[in-house]
Amino acid sequence: MSTHIHPHEGKIKRSDRERLMEQRGVTLWFTGLSGAGKSTLAVATEEALYEQGYLTYILDGDNIRSGINSNLGFSPEDRTENIRRIAEIARLFRDTGIINLTAFISPYREDRQLARRLADGDFIEVHVDAPLDICEERDPKGLYKKARSGEIKDFTGIDAPYEAPEKPEIYVNTDEQSIAECVEHVMAYLKHHAFLNKSQ
Ligand code: ADX
Repeated sequence: MSTHIHPHEGKIKRSDRERLMEQRGVTLWFTGLSGAGKSTLAVATEEALYEQGYLTYILDGDNIRSGINSNLGFSPEDRTENIRRIAEIARLFRDTGIINLTAFISPYREDRQLARRLADGDFIEVHVDAPLDICEERDPKGLYKKARSGEIKDFTGIDAPYEAPEKPEIYVNTDEQSIAECVEHVMAYLKHHAFLNKSQ
């Protein structure tokens, strides 16, 4: 627990940075089962944003877990701490004015709510849905197979829960839509809600 701390502000504010970059800091929070396509969709969305001149950054489960969160496992407590740290990092990115995309299973509603609360409205939850049997069939990392054989414990969807969002801002289903269609959906949402106002 930190005590006797005195946060202070610089002279250049988030609004100054946003004006400089002609964009609004926001978090696109992709959530869904392993293999649903969160990272693929985040990468493709980032590309579309970059092509339109927006500065972005992706925070991804497997990458963050091999760095800043390498001391965390997959117990409910560790997943909560994983998401809490990501939510705080996302807050820093928003403060820079960057559009940040996060791709974490983030299986617990309460943890995603914390991330949303920290964002003061600049938070877009994207439920990347796909049926479990399809994710299992895709099994890009061979982890479902290991979870079924008991080699991996507490695997989301197998022996650990996934609490689907009740009212995400954006819902996509990668079993029924192509990645290009999903990207279009996300971009349309951002445009409609005035996140993309760059003078081209
Ligand atoms: S979260 O639940 O804490 O949000 P996160 O997105 O960071 O998970 O990490 C998920 C990735 O870790 C998966 O894509 C998979 O590659 C790997 N992984 C390893 N063990 C597990 C597990 N028990 N449950 C889910 N994913 C796991």
